[in-house]
Amino acid sequence: MRKLYVFDTTLRDGEQSLGITLNIREKLDIGRQLVCLGVDIIEAGFPASSPGDFKAVQQLAREIKGVTICGLSRAVISDIDLCWEALKDAQQPRIHTGLALSPIHRQFKLGVTPEQGIEMAVGAVKHAKKYVQDVEYYSEDAFRTEPEILARVLYGVINAGATVVNIPDTVGYATPWEYGELITWLMNNVEGMDKVIVSVHCHNDLGMATANALAGVKAGASQVEGTINGIGERAGNTALEEVIMSIYTQPSRFGIKTTVNYKEIARTSRLVSKITGVQIPAHKAIVGENAFMHASGIHQDGVLKERSTYEIIHPSVIGISQNKIVLTARSGRHALRHCLEELGYQLEESVLNKVYEKFLTLADQKQEIFDEDLHALMGNKEGMNGADHIVLKGFSVSTAGPSRAMATVELDFSGNVVTDAACGNGPVDAVFNAIDRLVGCKVTLEDYSLKSITKGKDAMGDATVKIRANDSKLYVGHGLSTDVIEASAKAYVNALSKVIAQPVSTS
Ligand code: KIV
Ligand code: ZN
Repeated sequence: MRKLYVFDTTLRDGEQSLGITLNIREKLDIGRQLVCLGVDIIEAGFPASSPGDFKAVQQLAREIKGVTICGLSRAVISDIDLCWEALKDAQQPRIHTGLALSPIHRQFKLGVTPEQGIEMAVGAVKHAKKYVQDVEYYSEDAFRTEPEILARVLYGVINAGATVVNIPDTVGYATPWEYGELITWLMNNVEGMDKVIVSVHCHNDLGMATANALAGVKAGASQVEGTINGIGERAGNTALEEVIMSIYTQPSRFGIKTTVNYKEIARTSRLVSKITGVQIPAHKAIVGENAFMHASGIHQDGVLKERSTYEIIHPSVIGISQNKIVLTARSGRHALRHCLEELGYQLEESVLNKVYEKFLTLADQKQEIFDEDLHALMGNKEGMNGADHIVLKGFSVSTAGPSRAMATVELDFSGNVVTDAACGNGPVDAVFNAIDRLVGCKVTLEDYSLKSITKGKDAMGDATVKIRANDSKLYVGHGLSTDVIEASAKAYVNALSKVIAQPVSTS
């Protein structure tokens, strides 16, 4: 059976579109998890877009092994040079270059004739080939490009040495049958298409990104591009977990299979959601909270008699585990290690000891520790590696009436312990105002959300704060605690730490 190459662009098409700045540590965390998931290619970013993106691609290229690391570039010589500079330490580097040749883009964006565009495309691939064997060409807005012009550019770039050709439906305009027909037509009409990997890259503007990508695969494409949870530009990209599990449920439908570790799907999805701050809708296919829940009496009855009546995938396949050992404050390190290993965390003794201390603090506040608590403990790394510039040391709040509150906050601000107080419209507002007075950094609060991530009335609160800084970028902070005000304060402080840590842009 053919292999379907899984190309993850969460860190490029996903991140670029969110307006959210992920720091290098967050990108590395996602990158490492994508390796555990077993994707074949990670598109790490667009090095020419900013010094921060350049550094992130460079760092991923240096640290993430066992997978192809790809960088995006326009069909511009200086972009390609920078892209290679960022990628050159990768074990398996790939340059992804291209341009749009649809009539709309030719006329309004690039101001080029088809001939000039084809020349630029071929020149870009030839230039990238001087650096690296593996070159992917993308024909942006391919679906709205005249098929004959698309065929000519693909023929040109294949002859120039492209190893992969990407046929994006950039604006999510296609239907599955039209997109499938386009791939079939190209396979039959472009000499050399059978010698390269054909890639599908779809957007979700009409809600058909997954269906279109699958139609392309059925028509002969052997690489699929997408993001975890389908995050991305406007309505998002193809959700990789949906494509992977569609093929898993019946590989013979497609005559192809992936080599991903299905068990890592749920964890990868949660990690991406947590780091980007983009929440997963409960009804989202495969990874939504309700995806494996049965609510109606008829369905419950059916599932209890025979699971397959209403379930096409067993949740354990994608790594949603059931607890076998009940963890409480009386559990030892051994039990904790066992449960963490069941969830896929392999810890060295010294790290386990640190996690165990945090576990005991939490277990003293809760009767039972669930898988979600453990994920939260493992995900709440900010406090553990000491990388944050600002750390919440303590706070107290008093309220007088429904809206007036007064808060005192103590922070460790780059090694100095500072305290201040402020009033606010409720306890969270008062705490945020006190933090503002201490940090003195002008930001706008764009979004604040709080959800309970574990069960019971002593559940862990997971606060997410999005703030916009002077550089107009969006920074996401997280905080976890059984005390919701503390979780909120930690999230705000975590986001402010990222603003302060951000290097000053040179362009
Ligand atoms: O949607 C698109 O066309 C893209 C290309 C840059 C690959 O993301
Ligand atoms: Zn795209």
